Amino acid sequence: MNLQTAPKRFDGIASNYVSSEVHRSSASMSYVQAFFAGRTDLRVVDLACGAGHFGFSLAPLAAHLSFCDPSPAMLRAVQARADEAGLAIFAAEGAAEAMPFDNDSFDVVLSRLAPHHFVDFDRAAKEIARVLAPGGHCVIVDLEGMFDGGVDALNHQLEVLHDPTHGRSYTQIEWCQTLRGAGLTLIEVQGGLSESETGVTIERWCEIAGSGDAARRKIEAVLANASPQDLATLGIWNDGTGFRVPVRTALFIAEKT
Ligand SMILES: C[S@@+](CC[C@H](N)C(=O)[O-])C[C@H]1O[C@@H](n2cnc3c(N)ncnc32)[C@H](O)[C@@H]1O
Repeated sequence: MNLQTAPKRFDGIASNYVSSEVHRSSASMSYVQAFFAGRTDLRVVDLACGAGHFGFSLAPLAAHLSFCDPSPAMLRAVQARADEAGLAIFAAEGAAEAMPFDNDSFDVVLSRLAPHHFVDFDRAAKEIARVLAPGGHCVIVDLEGMFDGGVDALNHQLEVLHDPTHGRSYTQIEWCQTLRGAGLTLIEVQGGLSESETGVTIERWCEIAGSGDAARRKIEAVLANASPQDLATLGIWNDGTGFRVPVRTALFIAEKT
């Protein structure tokens, strides 16, 4: 996947992410709000912001709120929401691997349900460390890679059918190595989280990502042939009407000391 392809795809489906219940709220977002509770002075950037739900969730705690994404349509959606709410924000077009921000600019860099698209994961982590001010925090919530190679391969097959611009769901170990390698100090790691309390039907999951009917049918066929153990490891279940996915994630908070 190159730097152009994912943003072009997201440009065509930005409105799906504005209304997506999976993206609008989650337990991980509430956890992060609580983590920074009491602050009102934070300089925050939501990186690979999509429709900006994560960034907007921290608006009450922020003195400055920026959003960064390579997709102009996503940034237009973010600006429209800010205008509607009467919030002053800064929306910047750019990729994680080369952020259009000065060194030491932010107290918090957020990125949710997006780093699995980054073309150069290590370079993006170094960029996050560069734009964070000393004492600042990087908060990542992203699709979790699996330790068992067979289950990881199944997960990857499903994710690429769901979104052909999916790069890779990194394991907790890979995230820890990369964040440490960028010079950040890990202060929290949580795995096995879910961005949806109820689980998402395959139909809705594919609708949000604009996967198309052919991909949805292939996903259903792959799930029907998967072993119950592998499905259980991925947190995927059949509610009697069809499969539901948990949108399984891991959360990382790291500090620039
Ligand atoms: C699923 S959407 C993001 C969802 C959003 N963060 C949320 O939680 O609601 C993924 C986003 O990643 C962006 N993206 C893809 N490749 C990127 C890259 N290399 N650098 C930064 N953003 C990228 C896309 O344009 C898209 O808006």
